[in-house]
Amino acid sequence: MKPSIRVVQFGLGPIGCSVVCLAFKRSNIEIVGAVDIAAHKAGKDLGEIAGLKKELGITVSKDIASFLKEGPLDVVLHCTGSNLHGVYKQLKQIISAGIDVVSTCEELSFPTPKNQALSESLHRLAVENNATILGTGINPGFLMDAWPLFMTGICQEITMIKATRIQDAASRRVPFQQKIGAGCSSEEFQRRVEKGIIRHVGLSESISMIASGLGWELDRISERIDPILSEKKVKSEYITLEAGRVAGVKQTACGFQHGRSRIILEFQAYLGATESYDEVHISGIPEFKVRIPGGIHGDIGTAAIVVNAAQRVIEAPAGLLTMKDIPPIVCTAG
Ligand SMILES: NC(=O)c1ccc[n+]([C@@H]2O[C@H](COP(=O)([O-])OP(=O)(O)OC[C@H]3O[C@@H](n4cnc5c(N)ncnc54)[C@H](OP(=O)(O)O)[C@@H]3O)[C@@H](O)[C@H]2O)c1
Repeated sequence: MKPSIRVVQFGLGPIGCSVVCLAFKRSNIEIVGAVDIAAHKAGKDLGEIAGLKKELGITVSKDIASFLKEGPLDVVLHCTGSNLHGVYKQLKQIISAGIDVVSTCEELSFPTPKNQALSESLHRLAVENNATILGTGINPGFLMDAWPLFMTGICQEITMIKATRIQDAASRRVPFQQKIGAGCSSEEFQRRVEKGIIRHVGLSESISMIASGLGWELDRISERIDPILSEKKVKSEYITLEAGRVAGVKQTACGFQHGRSRIILEFQAYLGATESYDEVHISGIPEFKVRIPGGIHGDIGTAAIVVNAAQRVIEAPAGLLTMKDIPPIVCTAG
């Protein structure tokens, strides 16, 4: 029998807790520790914090240092933040100890010009310490980059790629509905966009990954965020929305080459969407669309890909890798 992969869960928000619940069910994974800075989590049993309804005998720690020093530890599953600048020190500490990382940090999923220097520094450190670091998730990390890129393998030529993710937010948790501005006036929506509160992080990273994978040099990437207004009264479990209020968000990004749009990503999440789906449309030879009716639930898919990636980062060479650099991640449930 293969030895278990010993993991520490770093960050116990909704995603970190979902990762723990899934990892706990996997025979190839052993959770050896958990870290979160929140005062109400540190010192408690991980099973209680993750909602497992049973004690795991693992106390949530405020600091990862002791796990890195004492081990044994193979991979850190890192789910604390979206901004690479914000999580850089956490990642640096882990890879400096020679430990592999799978992270849901959106900006880690692919280096964009804004994060080039930080990404290069992480890559150097990882190589020096024989560690692998991978940013992944459902989006970015799969639906709007790795998946479309994978689909291009059966194409002779490509003129344009479009990936679309439409989600009915009615059944999602309240923080998600707040994050997309549901219930706001148009003015309040705009204020939140300007403050960076309403913004899905990762579209530029996904476009950059596709372009890099196909060897396309882009002139520029544009992004825009618009409100989707409710046409009628919509009731969800959490919010009742009057007609004319903001139901959610439409965020689009486009990668241009020689002035032509070549990669288009469209993300819509709003209350009352008639149909949820994920779709990849490739224009070229052949021309085709692949659609996942209903779409993939973000939290379920993210927890899955993080846990499934643990084996891949152990097998992979050292460095900062992206989803286009490694073999497809597969379900490791056995
Ligand atoms: N790529 C993808 O597809 C994908 C999908 C889902 C989520 N994500 C990203 O993954 C991250 C986790 O998601 P989430 O919904 O669980 O986020 P969240 O609700 O913000 O939870 C993050 C958790 O990590 C803790 N934390 C923050 N900084 C820490 C530090 N320095 N040391 C230890 N713990 C720390 C937070 O504590 P406090 O609450 O005290 O700050 C919180 O408990 C987010 O950035 C999210 O955007 C990516």
